[in-house]
Amino acid sequence: MAIPTETVYGLAGNALDKRVISRIFTTKNRPEFDPLIVHCGSLSKVPDYADIDNPKAKLLAKTFWPGPLTMVLPKKEPIPYLVTSGLDSVAIRVPSHKLSLELLNHLDFPLVAPSANPFGYISPTTSDHVQENLGSSIDYILDGGKCELGIESTIIKFDNDLPRVLRLGSLSIEKIQSIIGKVEIEIHSSSNPAAPGMLKSHYSPSKPLILGPIESSLQDPSIDKAGILSFSREYNNEKILEQIVLSPKGDLEEAAANFFSALRALDKKNINLILAEKFPDSGLGRAINDRLKRAAAK
Ligand code: TXA
Ligand code: MG
Repeated sequence: MAIPTETVYGLAGNALDKRVISRIFTTKNRPEFDPLIVHCGSLSKVPDYADIDNPKAKLLAKTFWPGPLTMVLPKKEPIPYLVTSGLDSVAIRVPSHKLSLELLNHLDFPLVAPSANPFGYISPTTSDHVQENLGSSIDYILDGGKCELGIESTIIKFDNDLPRVLRLGSLSIEKIQSIIGKVEIEIHSSSNPAAPGMLKSHYSPSKPLILGPIESSLQDPSIDKAGILSFSREYNNEKILEQIVLSPKGDLEEAAANFFSALRALDKKNINLILAEKFPDSGLGRAINDRLKRAAAK
């Protein structure tokens, strides 16, 4: 079944049931080397599944849960290795969407929930997106409206007390650093065993996407019938057939909330390619740039 969260929709199932987990990997066409996130209804349930004794982890949990933060912690016995792709660590979060929290708190088991999209494609931020991509292979979508934040959770890991961010996401680095001080950002591609899922090419539309200054791309004679994805300003050129401005007032949170649905909308238009500009490299702009880089990678 698909569930709404504040970040993106997830394809959810019992995190303790290997048969269910296996079906989730198959439905998404996801390789089993890419581990899943375990979702709990409250911080008090986490110690059953992971060791959360690290003081910084505890502080982050108390500050940001429920919310868009995932922590990679030492795994405990009840979590099958199928969830963690054989790793001794497990990624855990407490989501803040009302419906998913209510659901989790009615269950006596946690839920794994990878984003409810076919592996490698754009993450879903509405129930319609889920229906479009996976409707025929799942039995139920819990409709919780449009995801408020629109970009996946931020993933953080602690190595000998050193916090490392493995995936930029809806919780900004600035907010994390305001609570626990400096963190390393270690965003890798597929070669990184600490985060096997951080593949270089991901979140990809079917159309080619070029990331860079839009005006110079438009000067390239080979570029025609373009769709534009921009932060706050509009571009004017006869080669532009479609254009989505993510936040005319220049608000990165608003841009993040609209990002994945804009990418999907452009992907469906009758255009040859998508031209996207780089966003400011602060706050949620960093997470947007990360997704754009992966969407542009082939
Ligand atoms: O916002 C989110 O986190 C959404 C919603 C539905 O909760 N879920 C989500 O799940 O984005 P998914 O499966 O699309 O991404 C999970 C990421 C993968 O890139 C995976 O590599 C990483 O989490 N991950 C999971 N377990 C890990 C572990 N033990 N060590 C390092 N990375 C891990
Ligand atoms: Mg995903």
